[in-house]
Amino acid sequence: MTEKDTTQTSESEIAVHWQEEDYFYPSMRFIAQANMTDPTIYDRFSLENFPNCYKEYADMLDWDAYWHTLLDTSDAPCWKWFVGGRLNASHNCIDRHLAKNKNKTAIHFVPELEEEKIEHITYQELFVRVNELAALLRDFAGLKPGDRATLHMPMSAELPIAMLACARLGVIHSEVFGGFSGRACADRIIDSQSKILITMDGYYRSGTLLDHKKNADVAVELALKEGQKVDKVLVWQRYPGKASSPTPMVAGRDYFINEELKKYRGQRIQPVSMPAEAPLFLMYTSGTTGKPKGCQHSIGGYLAYVTGTSKYVQDIHPEDVYWCMADIGWITGHSYIVYGPLSLGASTVIYEGVPNYPDAGRPWRIAQELDVNIFHTAPTAIRALRKIGPDEPAKYDYHFKHMTTVGEPIEPEVWKWYYKEVGKGEAIIVDTWWQTETGGFLCSTLPAITPMKPGSAGPALPGIHPIILDEDGNELPAGSGKAGNICIRNPWPGAFQTIWGDRDRYVQNYYARYCKDPKSKRWQDWPYLTGDAAVQSQDGYYRILGRIDDVINVSGHRLGTKEIESAALTVSEVAEAAVVPVAHDIKGKEPDLYIALKPGVNAHPDLEKRISDAVCNEIGKIAKPRKVWIVKDMPKTRSGKIMRRVLAAISNKRDVGDVTTLANPNIVEEIQAMMRK
Ligand code: WTA
Repeated sequence: MTEKDTTQTSESEIAVHWQEEDYFYPSMRFIAQANMTDPTIYDRFSLENFPNCYKEYADMLDWDAYWHTLLDTSDAPCWKWFVGGRLNASHNCIDRHLAKNKNKTAIHFVPELEEEKIEHITYQELFVRVNELAALLRDFAGLKPGDRATLHMPMSAELPIAMLACARLGVIHSEVFGGFSGRACADRIIDSQSKILITMDGYYRSGTLLDHKKNADVAVELALKEGQKVDKVLVWQRYPGKASSPTPMVAGRDYFINEELKKYRGQRIQPVSMPAEAPLFLMYTSGTTGKPKGCQHSIGGYLAYVTGTSKYVQDIHPEDVYWCMADIGWITGHSYIVYGPLSLGASTVIYEGVPNYPDAGRPWRIAQELDVNIFHTAPTAIRALRKIGPDEPAKYDYHFKHMTTVGEPIEPEVWKWYYKEVGKGEAIIVDTWWQTETGGFLCSTLPAITPMKPGSAGPALPGIHPIILDEDGNELPAGSGKAGNICIRNPWPGAFQTIWGDRDRYVQNYYARYCKDPKSKRWQDWPYLTGDAAVQSQDGYYRILGRIDDVINVSGHRLGTKEIESAALTVSEVAEAAVVPVAHDIKGKEPDLYIALKPGVNAHPDLEKRISDAVCNEIGKIAKPRKVWIVKDMPKTRSGKIMRRVLAAISNKRDVGDVTTLANPNIVEEIQAMMRK
């Protein structure tokens, strides 16, 4: 058995021991108001009706020119949707709502400091601010359609304003999660060849005003070393007119946006009419190799898909107040804080800080204050809030109709607390399974139609047709009790188009595994490999078990083991590094880092700290190892491969299994003894 197979089996064993849970049903009150109550939607979106079913989503958008070809597969597996169509995403998220809803709040920005006022931005104000920024980006920054701009911004109203201003010009935005380091930002600037960086001087996190500007300086410097020159760094001030960061501005390179904007007051920019299949943004994500991949999402297909799923799965109506606690720096924020809700004309909440600041009641006070009725978060936040404030929700007078969980599998016990305490038994829950690559949801219940089952993502969405395959490509049918690789049989409009600048890697990573004929132009021959293991129960519901590749899901954030290992290797004393996931009751998983030193170097607590710091500096604090274990040697196969499976078993205090075939079996006992100390 290979190393990888064993890791998979251990994930699926966990699942087999989980019991089937009972269904929960939506209330009549929810059903009476729901956007989608017609169960024939599953027939309308059946494989027989593919791809024509997706006209329904396209028709939720405003088109400058209507498309002529729904799905073009001639460049398989780079699918093109709504070919011939032209549209603009910023028009669809802003301008088209003005006639009826200009006075309605588009964005509620909630600062982390509770004494600071919440900012309510109407659609009209959003229109004005996006237009003025678009004018600045075009005329001052020189951005043209098809150019890339890197954004390294924290949770702020200015972040969607910057995204939408780019979209208005047909500029491709690439937002880097605010918590990432300058190094991580540099890698993304280089890969996307961005000449413009948009950032913010500071932001609050757990009550501290962080210096964010310094990351921009690091990013620009490192990018230059690798040949990518950033011409202008555009800096928003957290408090306009007041410095929030001690890092100085660089003359001739750095500009305060709020200052420069004064020159563009009153300017209006006609939304650039873009081809449907032009890219809207890049979102970098971790994969099997060290280098992050820039997932390229289209304007027409992506926007149609997130609009359709926001309407049917999130049940967003224009009168709803919708709060997704994810970070806009991840795909969830792009699709389900910015593009989906704004395309439907809802009010979307953006919260700057952490959920438990200053205490575990904060989210519920925000919900009460803004009368939020749709709430969206991740299991890691639910676990944390349950642990530190299990009785807090009951103290506040808010009422959700709908709640989402996303990002990792949720334990049935945690699901039930979410349902009973946070949702007060009134709100339905959707457990939405999807990925950066997929643009929008793949599996989830339809809230008014299919019942909920704790711990299960539910059936596939209408128009998504998964299949679970074993290593040999045989289908594992519903109810088989066996876990396998979950794939999607058909393309869908939200799917990413390619990896920016690396089509081969796109084909190799996602399609080569089960492709029936590499020359085929038929979508039927190209199942999409999600990289997750799953089981399908008798009722057709999918339970997602976790990644089959080298990705660790920490608090719902995807980190590549290779990225962490290469960060550790930047410390000159380190010879070898191996990262394994360790179970954590709040974060889901945490990375444990094993290190073998170069000959002649001695272990030292200071060295452990330097290695840990290197990981934080290279990637960001979210990747900080639980512990750096300096070991004499790594457990290895005779061919010299590090046995991460054995290290994972040690870290998780599981049985290491048969290690007699290792080149150095004694090291296993030595490491275990070291950890017991
Ligand atoms: C995992 C986040 C179980 C999965 C939207 C996937 C989930 C990876 C769920 C993608 C869920 C996401 N249940 N696991 N509801 N949602 N995952 O790209 O392993 O940050 O492949 O996208 O998160 O993470 P990403």
